[in-house]
Amino acid sequence: MKILSIESSCDETAAAIVEDGRKVLSSVVASQVEEHKIYGGVVPEIASRRHIEAISGVTREALNLAKADLKNIDAIAVTYAPGLIGALLVGVNFAKGLALSTGLPLIPVHHLRSHIAANYLSYKDLEPPFLCLVVSGGHSHIIEVKDYTDLKVIGKTRDDAAGEAFDKAARSMGIPYPGGVHLDRLAEKGNPNAFKLPRPTVQGSEYDFSFSGLKTAVINQIHNASQKGEVINVEDMSASFRLAIVDCLVNNFVKAAIHLKYNKLVIAGGVSANSLLRRRLQEECKKRNFNLYLPELSLCTDNAAMVGSQAYYEYQKNNIADMSLNAVATMSIDELDK
Ligand code: KG4
Ligand code: ZN
Repeated sequence: MKILSIESSCDETAAAIVEDGRKVLSSVVASQVEEHKIYGGVVPEIASRRHIEAISGVTREALNLAKADLKNIDAIAVTYAPGLIGALLVGVNFAKGLALSTGLPLIPVHHLRSHIAANYLSYKDLEPPFLCLVVSGGHSHIIEVKDYTDLKVIGKTRDDAAGEAFDKAARSMGIPYPGGVHLDRLAEKGNPNAFKLPRPTVQGSEYDFSFSGLKTAVINQIHNASQKGEVINVEDMSASFRLAIVDCLVNNFVKAAIHLKYNKLVIAGGVSANSLLRRRLQEECKKRNFNLYLPELSLCTDNAAMVGSQAYYEYQKNNIADMSLNAVATMSIDELDK
């Protein structure tokens, strides 16, 4: 089954053709990073406008690269939640138009489910059940993936998401947008023990995270240094901050795996590209004989191939939308809302 998938939840306009949920025939991503860089973050209104401009060309290119036309396609899939509402609406309406004009089924896909599915493309033999750490710009979740469409959130952030914390801390250090990836590179050259930062926990909810205090601690240390006329070493602060975030993520994730008896661990989302997170999890999983699945770097951040993968499994469960499908800005991963 060949699915044409569309993704426009944030600042990437993407289209892909994926066969039977596992084989990427083409994947095209048009990034808007350069456009948002001068503002230090994504400007929703600009994102929506750029999606409108890019979506037809990106989709045509995905079809061309797969040497396919709409007659060879069996279904249309689209990210419909969660994300920037204006951005999501562009993809949803474009996909509805395609489905209406071709008569093909329309498959609505939850953004976080698709991040998890990126791993089905990287590992052809990976099947649920497993425990997944989903860490992106908007979410930090520990999720029991009982089946492809049966997921349960067991831990989440109480405030900032890990990616958001990386981006905000990076900004406070003067690191250009998108901060996470640049901070990761600078951290490789820094001393992770140079600055003392907390490892926040959430009382009574051992799998939950809280990152906003950590981000404030960085801002305070920068402020204190500047009041004394000093300048902090950005490489050392990046390394110290990255270690603190990764400590929190790894501690809760491994603890949850032990308690809930999972030995198959998967990570997903933009922050799963973080080099320290990947190394630390490899070490921890090796020690405990856990099987660890790390998505290919190109599949960690937003793309449409992952949407096409998850859509295949949603289709098996008859999760098909009609023309009343709408975009939804906020939706839990375990909510089954079309
Ligand atoms: O999944 P994603 O592309 O978009 C959302 O669904 O939010 O994730 C983007 C987030 C951004 O916050 C970005 O800074 C972060 O992922 N990110 C990283 C790295 N690469 C991307 N954070 C830390 N280290 C990285 N190497
Ligand atoms: Zn994402």
